[in-house]
Amino acid sequence: MDLPADLSTVLKPIEEARGLPNACYISEEYYQTEKQKVFFGGWAALAFISDAPNPGDVCPVDFLGMPLLLVRNKDDGLKVFQNVCRHRGMILVEEATHLRGPIRCPYHSWSYDYDGNLVRTPYVGGVGIDDHENICPKDLSLHEIRSHVWQGVVFVDVSGQAPAFNIAHKDLLGRWAEFDQPYHLGGAASRFDMTLDTNWKLAVENYCESYHLPWIHPELNEISPIDAHYHIEHDSYAGQGSRNYRQLIGENSKKFKDFEGLGDVWDGQSEYVALFPNVLLGVHRDHSFAMLLMPQGPEKTLERVALYYADKNIDVPENLDMLRENARIWQDVFNEDVGVVQGMQKGRHGMYFDGGKFSPVMDGPTHSFHKWVARTLMV
Ligand code: FES
Ligand SMILES: [Fe+2]
Repeated sequence: MDLPADLSTVLKPIEEARGLPNACYISEEYYQTEKQKVFFGGWAALAFISDAPNPGDVCPVDFLGMPLLLVRNKDDGLKVFQNVCRHRGMILVEEATHLRGPIRCPYHSWSYDYDGNLVRTPYVGGVGIDDHENICPKDLSLHEIRSHVWQGVVFVDVSGQAPAFNIAHKDLLGRWAEFDQPYHLGGAASRFDMTLDTNWKLAVENYCESYHLPWIHPELNEISPIDAHYHIEHDSYAGQGSRNYRQLIGENSKKFKDFEGLGDVWDGQSEYVALFPNVLLGVHRDHSFAMLLMPQGPEKTLERVALYYADKNIDVPENLDMLRENARIWQDVFNEDVGVVQGMQKGRHGMYFDGGKFSPVMDGPTHSFHKWVARTLMV
């Protein structure tokens, strides 16, 4: 499709800029363009490492309609494949499961190992004959999708053309280098999902800013007030930090273990960053979280949240109350945002809305995101 004509106004200095036009939030045609350029054209978040925790685990992911398969292989590495058999294009795996043998296609039983190699082709040369000179297994491996793990999240580059993840995101990796250490999911109590009637971009935009704190999160604003926040603005990520992070303290003054070797600055500081396009990350001395935004269409978004901890043995019954409490605190905060994120989506059907006017002081991170989207679409 032709992009909305006024996209260039998004790129102007914040004082003159307008936000992305309505079509970017409600048009099916625009959504298809965005899917190709924004989600399939470079690195995007796909899944959690905890979606396939053990060797032999396979987890299908519908990535904006593209069938992908997350596989934990025998070396404990994660790989992502197109979830499609090389024979007649059958979907290979329909549900997350633990496999003992190879990945077997349910149609004619062609089978692949966890590195995507075709290892069995029963009767392919006729009944009882499992090979044929025309069928060359090494040419028929599963199509591997380039992937990278960071912050407990599996990222993919469907295009295969993006710069290496460590290069593309070197600034954020540098900023949070201290958090580049093993992350451990706090079990089922540390995972929850929400489905919102909104475009995924509005979830990013709302996450980037602290402007709404006093009105949408009055209780959080008591602990971590708006004036203790600072903005984070960059070409490929944006968000906010707080200088007033207070750890959860359980019974008998119990606390979660800190990540190892953090500088003193993190004693009372936390940061919340949207890594474009679709993952919202938060880091604290004693836990981190990631929210994956999985678009289900222009006006529906699945939000998948996981909380991670430093302690390898975090997922034990004696920690359950605190794990539940920490997840509840975050779920309450995210629930408080639902009304405005869905309300902004409804607002995008107001035909005279012009993308909106940014506050030059408060909306810088949101503008950074809009500029990134506009630039990515205009390439
Ligand atoms: S489609 Fe998979 S084996 Fe035939
Ligand atoms: Fe919020």
